[in-house]
Amino acid sequence: MNLKQAKELVRGRLSDKRYEHTLNVRKMAVKLAKRYGVDEDKAALAALLHDSAKEISKDEMRAIMRAHPELAEGGEERPTPVWHGICAAILARTEWGVEDEAVLSAIACHTAGKPGMSRLDKIVYLADMSSKERDWPGVNKLRKLELKDLDLAMLAALRQTNDFVLSQDKPLDPMSKAAYDEIKAEVDARAAKAG
Ligand SMILES: [Fe+2]
Ligand SMILES: [Fe+2]
Repeated sequence: MNLKQAKELVRGRLSDKRYEHTLNVRKMAVKLAKRYGVDEDKAALAALLHDSAKEISKDEMRAIMRAHPELAEGGEERPTPVWHGICAAILARTEWGVEDEAVLSAIACHTAGKPGMSRLDKIVYLADMSSKERDWPGVNKLRKLELKDLDLAMLAALRQTNDFVLSQDKPLDPMSKAAYDEIKAEVDARAAKAG
């Protein structure tokens, strides 16, 4: 699937508002990809498809994960907000002909993150949080930070998301916590090395 096809596909699957968000995420993801020397087309494709399963019902998402348990990453046991990324990656792989593992990974983990995130994973995660229409307190700070240091930006973004989830008394996805702990350890080790 090329970028034009992906754009048409999501145009047909998403509300105007979410389509607009998707185009903004693409723009931000491409900007970050350029900054960090990551393949811009991969960033654009992952961004275009990241929310492609967001407007289907939970029952439909559950059915998609049950039909492909080997691709569902235990999704059913995880908090429902992460389902749409997992389902989008499954649909992209099984129905839309996306074969690039890096792109599929970035789509699947865009809501919660995961341990061992690639630069592309981080870029799509951050682009989703800092796209043009986002206006949560602190978003401008994140926009600056993500152009300076991908890992420090990920820490800030994961902390923000995790705190928000916990403040709402919602369950925290274990992947999200694992992603935070891993990047925190890396950043700390880097700081220790730099003295
Ligand atoms: Fe999403
Ligand atoms: Fe999104």
